[in-house]
Amino acid sequence: MRITDLLFSQGFGTRRLCAGLVENGLVEVQGCPCHDPAQTVDVSTAPLHYSVQGRPWTYHERAYVMLNKPAGYECSHRPGAWPSVYTLLPPPLRQRPTAGKVAGVQAVGRLDQDTTGLLLLSDDGAFIHRMNSPRHLVPKLYEVTTRHPMDARQIERLRAGVVLDDDPKPVAAASAEAAGEHRLLLTLTEGKYHQVKRMVAAVGNRVEALHRSRIGGLALPDDLAPGQWRWLTADELALLKA
Ligand code: URA
Repeated sequence: MRITDLLFSQGFGTRRLCAGLVENGLVEVQGCPCHDPAQTVDVSTAPLHYSVQGRPWTYHERAYVMLNKPAGYECSHRPGAWPSVYTLLPPPLRQRPTAGKVAGVQAVGRLDQDTTGLLLLSDDGAFIHRMNSPRHLVPKLYEVTTRHPMDARQIERLRAGVVLDDDPKPVAAASAEAAGEHRLLLTLTEGKYHQVKRMVAAVGNRVEALHRSRIGGLALPDDLAPGQWRWLTADELALLKA
């Protein structure tokens, strides 16, 4: 692949901008300066390391990243009242092209502005679809803090299923267990709008704080601080695709 095409595919702007980065000596590939926009690089030699303006990058054919979402950010490219989670990512991740158009990575399902924790983002449409599809039953673990003490009956109702206002069919938690008087661990396999908050409200309680700590086999790592992101490893991706 030509270095200009590689940079374009990784979100460094138009091919013309990418060629300019190379011509101006701002790109190194595997530690060697590169001045020729037509130079070819072998992307099959994984991992292919390169740098742009001194910042190191690794080539990824597709982007799969995790973010520890802090409170106060919206999962939208056009946020209303709060900043967008996408502002927590570096520009190349926001500008990666899909079918030649700047599209960037997309959140795999949304978290509310005040929800914290594990958010996946990708530019792989099939992956996003699979992770969001209720058919694939990908479990998501939520740590819920409730306003009132949770009682055994409320927990039993969450397990048995509650009716929400947009669907007569009851929705049930895949699991629900108390983790303290005001703390609940809830696993859901669907991703309906405000689902946790609405389910907890349906049993007569209220969510005070919500944190997602796991998606499928992938747990939010302890060393990923709120607001930080990182690429998924091949093993983590395999866990999610399993
Ligand atoms: N359920 C909610 O109510 N909010 C979230 O952010 C995620 C799940």
